[in-house]
Amino acid sequence: MAVDLAVVPVAGRGTRLLPLTKSQPKEMLPVGQKPVVQYVADELAEAGVRRLVFVTGPGKVAIENHFDINEELIARLREGGQEDMLAKLAFEREDLEYFYTRQRRQLGLGHAILCAKQIVSDQPFVVALGDSIIGLHAESDVVRRTIEIFDREQADAVIAFETVPRQDVVHYGIARPKAVHADFFELEDLVEKPSPADAPSCLAVAGRYVFRSSIFKFIEETPPGKGNEIQLTDAIGALLKSGGKVLGVPLTSGEHRYDIGNFASYFRAFVEFALQDPEYGTALREHTRQLLARLPASE
Ligand code: UTP
Repeated sequence: MAVDLAVVPVAGRGTRLLPLTKSQPKEMLPVGQKPVVQYVADELAEAGVRRLVFVTGPGKVAIENHFDINEELIARLREGGQEDMLAKLAFEREDLEYFYTRQRRQLGLGHAILCAKQIVSDQPFVVALGDSIIGLHAESDVVRRTIEIFDREQADAVIAFETVPRQDVVHYGIARPKAVHADFFELEDLVEKPSPADAPSCLAVAGRYVFRSSIFKFIEETPPGKGNEIQLTDAIGALLKSGGKVLGVPLTSGEHRYDIGNFASYFRAFVEFALQDPEYGTALREHTRQLLARLPASE
């Protein structure tokens, strides 16, 4: 069955980006010319997803407004002959259906996905974190690959993984792979935030997954874990323990994951997207060169 449904959790508090996120969703922060969540929607549409379920929460209404069709704005731009600006709103008219549900209490990523259970019902579905972009300007087909492998291998779950430097494994869920195949590997276990010495690999969960609806049962049975939150990693661990077939798909070298959840990573993403912007990148690169020449070299 072709997977054309995606759940996009966007209900998190974004505490690590305060004060930016005090009154605006982190998923609406700009990266170059677009807000983060639009890159996510564009990437999913490109991969064949046609129905998007956003799990929203307090203070996230700007996300719903962003994907609405703004007739008044379109009419005004059309009357003013501003075709170039109209083109920037083309995403509003894409052939996508939007659904919204609320996570009424922020009990973690696993719990956020569980909030979409009634809408998803018994269909297989993609999960794409609303605060992560894959690949420069979201030019990645990793979701298409995960869906293809999910179908072909009749898996229970397929997860995208990025190879990270060993000292960074402490920030991520890390794969313990077993058999390695041409375009995927089988997962023995997922270890949450191991120390570099204990890490079974440097393959970090990259914020893109495909699941069968059976995952809901495992999330429901998952007790609160780290940070008193219901962790998706724990539910995947339980699925593995029960004999579930969980596969990993590695990102390619051009498919870096831009995590917009902390300042260090957000700044890097913004700078890289802006410097490579098709309209403004050339001038900005020149400006940046001059700026760097004036700044003292770091220690
Ligand atoms: P994070 O793990 O970065 O958590 O979320 P967070 O709560 O947003 O951020 P901090 O820790 O307070 O800084 C990863 C993705 O999962 C969503 C977030 O919106 C983000 O897109 N999420 C997280 C939820 O939807 N609900 C939650 O309870 C937690």
